Amino acid sequence: MTFDPERRAMTRRHAKVVRMLVMVLPWSLLADFSTAETAKEDDARLAIGKRIYLEGRASDDPAEEIKIGIGGDNAVEVPAWTLPCGTCHGADGRGGIAVQNVAPPDIRWEALMADLPSSATGRTRPAYTDHDALRKAITEGVDAGGTALSPVMPRFRLDDAQWEALVAYLETLRRE
Ligand code: HEC
Repeated sequence: MTFDPERRAMTRRHAKVVRMLVMVLPWSLLADFSTAETAKEDDARLAIGKRIYLEGRASDDPAEEIKIGIGGDNAVEVPAWTLPCGTCHGADGRGGIAVQNVAPPDIRWEALMADLPSSATGRTRPAYTDHDALRKAITEGVDAGGTALSPVMPRFRLDDAQWEALVAYLETLRRE
């Protein structure tokens, strides 16, 4: 074989391209795959969030039953399916009919993300700019300004996964 420097350089370049492709291809395939997986997980999470909102359940498993604290000191625990969010705040979150003279407020995302100048109970609060503040309102009954919510609003005992599902769904309740 005769020595052909040009050909050799080409082969080397070629090998480099092949090496690059080999390195990049699997990763890009993996990235596509994981985006599809993430989308599937997001859909599943949203469906659970919607179920908590409308039915007060995250699953059919009785062991995973969500409880709510009701009454003056919220010490009475009953299953959340007896009082899902939608019964008071409406299926679309726009607020509902007064329960014991306290009107369940509009909890569509825009309302939660804005300061509240005055509620039905005369409460004012800053926007729920972080999810932890919102979680505290729903699970402990303390709003973003540190004021206790009326006992009419049940305290939902949610674990991390249930909370994440619920907040993902709340984000989809919009005014338009
Ligand atoms: C029995 C009726 C009832 C149910 C069920 C209920 N709420 Fe409420 N909720 C209220 C009332 C009434 C208030 C207003 C309390 C106040 O102003 O002191 C309230 C307040 C809130 C607030 C605070 C709003 C603000 O602007 O500060 C959020 C957030 C909220 N509810 C979310 C939920 C979610 C999410 C669920 C279900 C997991 C739920 N609520 C279930 C009646 C209810």
